[in-house]
Amino acid sequence: MAKKIAQNICLHILEQGELDKDEMDLMAMAKKSLQNAYAPYSQFAVGAALLLESGEMLSANNQENAAFPVGICAERVLLSYANANYPNQAPLKIALAAKALGSKNYSSISPCGLCRQTINEYELKFNQEIAIYMLNPSGEIFKADNISQLLPFKFNNFK
Ligand code: THU
Repeated sequence: MAKKIAQNICLHILEQGELDKDEMDLMAMAKKSLQNAYAPYSQFAVGAALLLESGEMLSANNQENAAFPVGICAERVLLSYANANYPNQAPLKIALAAKALGSKNYSSISPCGLCRQTINEYELKFNQEIAIYMLNPSGEIFKADNISQLLPFKFNNFK
């Protein structure tokens, strides 16, 4: 039989009431931030909020461009801003919320491949896992304990 390498990955499903105070604040910031998304092309607004090890919280949203590939996801706007301005503060938790513009309901959200690789980069830089909280339309939250749950067999060059 052919040999195989297996990885066991999982997401936790959390009710709102299972979030601690920081996590609730973070999710509230992500929801608020999506209101400032610049998404005239996709009409899909994403908000992200980040908890740094100092306890400080930052937020950002997606920023699109008429030349579509130039647009940047909320997660990468946020993580780049965080590392540009707080280069010595490890990010601990990132919360995500999304909505189609004009809708009153939240949409499902999960980081794209580029954003997964970016989260991985900051886990590597700080040697610190980053937990990812993704709001569902039902109000439940999917939690990945670290980027390995979303990006198994990832590229970790030079490590
Ligand atoms: N987007 C994000 O900001 N984060 C994600 O995790 C997925 C997608 C943005 C990119 C684009 O502006 C819009 O959502 C539609 O894909």
